[in-house]
Amino acid sequence: MKKSPKVVRSISLRLKDFPGFSQKNLNGLKKYYQSQLKAHPEPEKRVGWKTAESQRVRFEEFTRVGPLKGSKILDVGCGLGAFWGYLQEKEITVTYTGIDLFPEVIQEAQKFYPDAKFEVRHILARPYPARTFDYSFLSGVFNVKVKDNWLYTKTMLRQILLQTKKAVAFNILNADSGLKESNRFVVTPQEITAMARSLGVKKTHLLDHYHHLDITLFLYR
Ligand SMILES: C[S@@+](CC[C@H](N)C(=O)[O-])C[C@H]1O[C@@H](n2cnc3c(N)ncnc32)[C@H](O)[C@@H]1O
Repeated sequence: MKKSPKVVRSISLRLKDFPGFSQKNLNGLKKYYQSQLKAHPEPEKRVGWKTAESQRVRFEEFTRVGPLKGSKILDVGCGLGAFWGYLQEKEITVTYTGIDLFPEVIQEAQKFYPDAKFEVRHILARPYPARTFDYSFLSGVFNVKVKDNWLYTKTMLRQILLQTKKAVAFNILNADSGLKESNRFVVTPQEITAMARSLGVKKTHLLDHYHHLDITLFLYR
């Protein structure tokens, strides 16, 4: 019997839950992801990546964070659920939850992966209880330029660390790559490592040789 589609509720995105954003930034974020979703047929382009390979190498780096098999993981900004697809393909069995801000995105994710758990949620507005997940991941979530990206990134990571037992892994654009897109937030490896250390984590680990535009950071609790 064919499964009936799950109901996807929208949430109201309030400026107070987006530190470092202006109202224009928040409207812009929504407009950007909604337009990408409609503009392309390729799943990776529909969430803003240029190629499937560039999306995939980022996931590959994430799997180096620790022994993921059997763990409980949170994918913040899951888009169409491609990280879940990657983990399945690699036979890395986890208990997965993917969250995104936009119901249109989650609706599409559910079409790709009807058996995975997806939710429309903003963790700064509705956090999970402390230490709910073993590992949390964010791929491509910090790349859009807003008024104060440092404040936003720091607030998000602080909250996600609270909800995570072992480690948080995220990627961000590398300023040393020479990327010249004024609507993108870029950081140097030194800057992002210093910020991560200011969050009081036990250990940080940086990876920067897998893609010329990108840095991945692991924050261990
Ligand atoms: C570049 S896309 C990447 C999607 C997915 N991680 C992937 O690699 O295929 C970033 C996603 O993060 C979502 N997003 C941005 N800010 C978010 C936030 N604060 N909480 C949850 N999702 C967010 C966007 O809606 C978008 O789907």
